Amino acid sequence: MVEMTSITKRFPGVLANHHVNFTCAAGEIHALLGENGAGKSTLMKILAGLYRPDNGEIRVHGEPVDISSPREALRLGIGMVHQELRLVKSITVAENIVMGSKDLDFFYSRSEQESRVRKFSLTIGLEVDPRTPVWQLSVGEQQRVEILKTLYRGVRMLVLDEPTALLTPQETGRLFEYLRRIVSIGRGIAFVTHKLEEVMDVADRITVLRQGEAIATLKKQETNVQDLARLMIGRIPESESSRIEAPAGNVILEVKNIGAMGDGKRAALNGVSFSLSKGEILGVAGVAGNGQRELAEALVGLRTVSEGDIFFDGDPITRLSPLQILSRGIGYIPEDRLGVGVVPVLPLSENFILKDYRSRAFSGRFFLKPKWVEQNAMELIEAYNIKTPDIHTPVGMLSGGNIQKVILAREISRNPKLLVAMNPTRGLDVGATEAIHHMFLDQKRAGTAILLISEDLDELFKLSDRITVIYKGTIRGLVKADRSLVNEIGLLMGGASG
Ligand SMILES: Nc1ncnc2c1ncn2[C@@H]1O[C@H](COP(=O)(O)OP(=O)(O)OP(=O)(O)O)[C@@H](O)[C@H]1O
Ligand SMILES: [Mg+2]
Repeated sequence: MVEMTSITKRFPGVLANHHVNFTCAAGEIHALLGENGAGKSTLMKILAGLYRPDNGEIRVHGEPVDISSPREALRLGIGMVHQELRLVKSITVAENIVMGSKDLDFFYSRSEQESRVRKFSLTIGLEVDPRTPVWQLSVGEQQRVEILKTLYRGVRMLVLDEPTALLTPQETGRLFEYLRRIVSIGRGIAFVTHKLEEVMDVADRITVLRQGEAIATLKKQETNVQDLARLMIGRIPESESSRIEAPAGNVILEVKNIGAMGDGKRAALNGVSFSLSKGEILGVAGVAGNGQRELAEALVGLRTVSEGDIFFDGDPITRLSPLQILSRGIGYIPEDRLGVGVVPVLPLSENFILKDYRSRAFSGRFFLKPKWVEQNAMELIEAYNIKTPDIHTPVGMLSGGNIQKVILAREISRNPKLLVAMNPTRGLDVGATEAIHHMFLDQKRAGTAILLISEDLDELFKLSDRITVIYKGTIRGLVKADRSLVNEIGLLMGGASG
C-alpha cells in the first residue's frame, strides 16, 4: 500500500531521518518503535504530508507520489492521528469530528451530526459525548476524539502516533479490536508507540528506529519485549523498583474536605481529604477524567476551591494565588505539557525561568539579564541531559521526552517542598521514563513530598509509598503501594466503594 524508500530529513542541528525504509501492506499493522527523538513522528509526518523529505521516494499502490500537504495525503487515502492534541477547543466534539470530513456532514443539522458521531463512536468503542465543547474534556477524552476524527474520514492507510498514551487499558483493548477489524478488510496501519507489550499485542511487523536510522524490521513472531527494548535503547532497561521507605510523620500537605467545580458546571471534587509527609510519594490512581486534573489545579491555585481547606507547611493556602503558592515551594508538572507546562514558541532558556523571571537573579530593574538566563539554561540542559540543538531552540520543537525534562528541570531546580505531578511519564520512552523516575526518587531522598497523579499503575507501584484512588471526584481507599493489592485498586478505580 505504501512504500517509503531511503527517506532523509534534516532539521537544523539534527538528522531526524537518515535513509529510512518503511513499508506497509494492506491488511497489516506495522509498528514503529524508538526512543524519544528517534525520528518516528518525523517519518510519519512526511507520509501524512506535513513535512517534505529532503531525499527519498514515496510510492502509494506502486505509484510514485508527491505528498505536498495533508489534504493531498487524505486524497491518497492517508490520514494521521497526531501525538499532540490538535482539536479546536472552543467547538463541540461532534463539530471537531465532522469538520473537514469529505462528505457533506458539515451541512447536516447539529442534531444529525451529533447522532452520527454518537453512532460512530459506539461502533468503534470509544465513548464520547458529541455535545461537549472540547475545552471541557480531559486530555484522555480529547485523544479519543482525535482518533475518532481521523477514523471518521475512512482513510485506507491510517497512521497512529502514540494513540494509546492517554487511553485506559479498556479503551486501548477496544481500539485494538477495531484496528484489527479494519485491517482485516484491507486497510493498512502504521502504529507508533513506546509500549512494547502493545506492540507484541497488536503489530504484525515492527521497525525500530534509533537516532534517525531504521536499525531493524522484524516480524512479531521473530522477536520479544526484551529484544525490542535492547534494540531501542541499546541496553536492557531496569525492571524493578528502587523504592525507598518514606520517613514517618512530618506532614507537609493537609487537604481537608475540599470541593471544586469542573469546567462543565458540575462538581469535579467532593469532600477530598488526604495528607502527605515530607519525603513521601503518595500515588493517586484513577481512570482519566475522574477529577485528577481538577485536584492538581486546586492544589496549585489554578482552580477555585469551593469548600474545605488546604494547609501547606502549617499555613492555609486555600485562597492564595498561583504565584503566592508557587513561591511557597510547590512545584507543578501539569499533564498538558505544551498547553500549560511550557510556552512552545519561547526558547528553552526563557522557558526555564517562566516562574522566576521576576527574581533578582534573572532580571534587573527593567530587563532580563541574558547572561544569567543563558548560564542557567546551559546548566540545566547539562544536569538533566536534555537533547536540544541549543538553548535558543523553541521548546515546542523538542521531542516529547525532552519537553517533559525541561519542565522537570525547571520545577526541581526551584527546590520545591512539594511536587504535584500529573502523568509525568506519559508518552515517554523507557530511557526517559527511567530518568524521570530517578529524578523523583532523588527528590524524595532530599525530603520533597510528591503527589503523583498517574494513570499508569506500574509507575504508581514502582514509586509510591501509599496509593489512593480517585473516582468521580472522591477519594476511595488508601493502601500501601504493594503489588499484591493491584486487584483491590483496580476495583476501586472502577467505582467499588472502599
Ligand atoms: N519541526 C522541527 N524542527 C526542528 N527539529 C525538529 C522538528 N521536528 C522534530 N525535530 C527534531 O527531530 C528529531 C526527531 O524528532 P521526532 O519528533 O521525529 O521524534 P520521535 O521519535 O517522534 O520522538 P518522541 O517519542 O519523543 O515523540 C528530534 O531531535 C527533534 O528535536
Ligand atoms: Mg513523536
